[in-house]
Amino acid sequence: MKLGVCYYPEHWPQDWWAEDARRMADMGLSVVRIAEFAWSRIEPEPGQFDWAWLDQAVETLYAAGLSVIMCTPTATPPKWLVDQHPDMVAINEQGQRRQFGSRRHYSFSHEGYRAECARITEAVAERYGQHPAVVAWQTDNEYGCHDTTISYCASAARRFRLWLAARYGTVEALNQAWGTVFWSQVYRRFDEVDPPHLTVTEANPSHRLDYNRFASDEVVSFNRLQVDILRRQSPGRDMIHNFMGFYTEFDHFAVSQDLDVASWDSYPLGFLEQFWFSTEDKARYLRQGHPDVAAFHHDLYRGCGRGRWWVMEQQPGPVNWASFNPSPLPGMVRAWTWEAFAHGAEVVSYFRWRQAPFAQEQMHAGLNRPDRSEDIGGQEARQVAADIKALGEFAPCGPSPVALVFSYEGDWVTTIQPQAQGYRALKEAFAWYSSLRQIGLDVDIVPPGADLSGYRLVVAPCLPIVSPEALAAFEATEAVTVFGVRAGSKTRDLHIPGNLPPGELSKLLPLTVQRVESLRPGTPMAIDANGAALTGRDWREDVSTHAEVLGRFEDGHPAWIRSGKRDYLAFAPQESALSHLMSDAAKRAGLTVMSMPEGVRISQRGGFGIAINSAPEPRPAPVAKGAEFVLGGPILPPAGVAIWKVPS
Ligand code: GAL
Repeated sequence: MKLGVCYYPEHWPQDWWAEDARRMADMGLSVVRIAEFAWSRIEPEPGQFDWAWLDQAVETLYAAGLSVIMCTPTATPPKWLVDQHPDMVAINEQGQRRQFGSRRHYSFSHEGYRAECARITEAVAERYGQHPAVVAWQTDNEYGCHDTTISYCASAARRFRLWLAARYGTVEALNQAWGTVFWSQVYRRFDEVDPPHLTVTEANPSHRLDYNRFASDEVVSFNRLQVDILRRQSPGRDMIHNFMGFYTEFDHFAVSQDLDVASWDSYPLGFLEQFWFSTEDKARYLRQGHPDVAAFHHDLYRGCGRGRWWVMEQQPGPVNWASFNPSPLPGMVRAWTWEAFAHGAEVVSYFRWRQAPFAQEQMHAGLNRPDRSEDIGGQEARQVAADIKALGEFAPCGPSPVALVFSYEGDWVTTIQPQAQGYRALKEAFAWYSSLRQIGLDVDIVPPGADLSGYRLVVAPCLPIVSPEALAAFEATEAVTVFGVRAGSKTRDLHIPGNLPPGELSKLLPLTVQRVESLRPGTPMAIDANGAALTGRDWREDVSTHAEVLGRFEDGHPAWIRSGKRDYLAFAPQESALSHLMSDAAKRAGLTVMSMPEGVRISQRGGFGIAINSAPEPRPAPVAKGAEFVLGGPILPPAGVAIWKVPS
């Protein structure tokens, strides 16, 4: 468990650096991320490098005993570069050209820009690859931020056509896969295919899905280009990228295959404000963040990193980018940090060392204020460092009993064809995750096809396309498995399967979905499950089956179906119904089901239990009597943290 910080020496007078470094070490920080936006300072004129300042910054940090995470600066190409390659910027869905003046003004598909990225990566890696201070590399910064994964520019169009030719071989196969006979969309050659935007009404869904797949592959290859150079120039260092929250435009599992560590940027208050949460939740968790949002991503990125993950940017105080930007509750920065460690983070690094008095993020807090005085976030980071010291050896994370299968492709499918407004695989995954966490279970989030052996319970909230690998993993697992609506409802080409949904999954689930309907909010559906009244929302399926039926809709149609260890739900469950279903599945799997006090979540992996209180009132720590506390105690104040030993 290490603490770190994001630092921008180029923003501050050089004669502040040594004092900054000394104070970082004094605060208990040990890793410092630098240079991800520094291209115009590193290479002020094409081909003319100014390394002196960055050399000095690295030496200063090193001299203070700090380790460096060096970055490639490719998220902010300088003005001269954009002027050299005016067509390197992305074109958005509305057909508008992105302009210079903020960041991420590039298309992943522009080959000229890729060559420039390779060149600057080579240069930075050559300069610092062997430096003893440099322990890790971050590629670029937040791929996709500000809606930049998908570009409709000419470079993307050209590479998309090549991608299609490689995927389909013949244009006839493409026509078949996309069903282009519909509305007379038949293509004669690959070079007739354009990116799917600005069509009169919705573009062909298979075309759009392939464009998502293509755009995701572009991020993978863009990242790999840099990683390959860095590995050659800087062997033995960890390769990392910093991902975002609730962001699905590329397959993060796929990008992570080329990394050693997955990391993400955790801004709990910004995410609560910007995403789909109710007004009540936004008010209740105003200064704490939703109790499951950070944890959901911790568990997702632990899955992406195959066990190794960091928080690269941790919110330290109010941010600047949400509609409203409250202060965290006193203690919350510390609690978020502990929560990350509870989920297995190796490093939690705060964004940023000092609030900048100029430019876009001047309203974003740091660990220090612009006048160099220590802000509340800095004091809380200090507190965490003291906590860690007091605890000594501590390995809070081990395997989880529950796997939640999440597919980025599934989220693309449901975004292309929501069928019920707002319905998304990501939202479903989060709702199921939250429900499992409220009954005290630890969850791993894994990609379809991951090995499911060792889990007691597996849930697949929304998996429209079931690959052969995913099918094999579901077939092989001994775990109790619960599938949500739309499982297996589409083929790989985004067609309805010939045998009707759940398509290939019908090998494991003896049922057929004969019709689906979606319902607007405020039209709940009642389900009778052997006397228990469950409620559905948004989505309902008419299923025909000879399997056991545990719950029925009012019209008698099966709603909750069981075949051996596998359940299928023919409805999207409302919160209380989901809780009933998850508890039932967990009990069948032999897991202990608890009921978390509102706002409290626990993690119990690796011999320790940790509880975090995100409620604005004190809460009891959900522990057995006589638990041996090593941090905190049986009553959790707001923003409180308690850690205890779990007897093996
Ligand atoms: C992140 C980004 C940082 C900074 C931060 C502000 O998305 O990586 O560079 O902008 O947000 O919260």
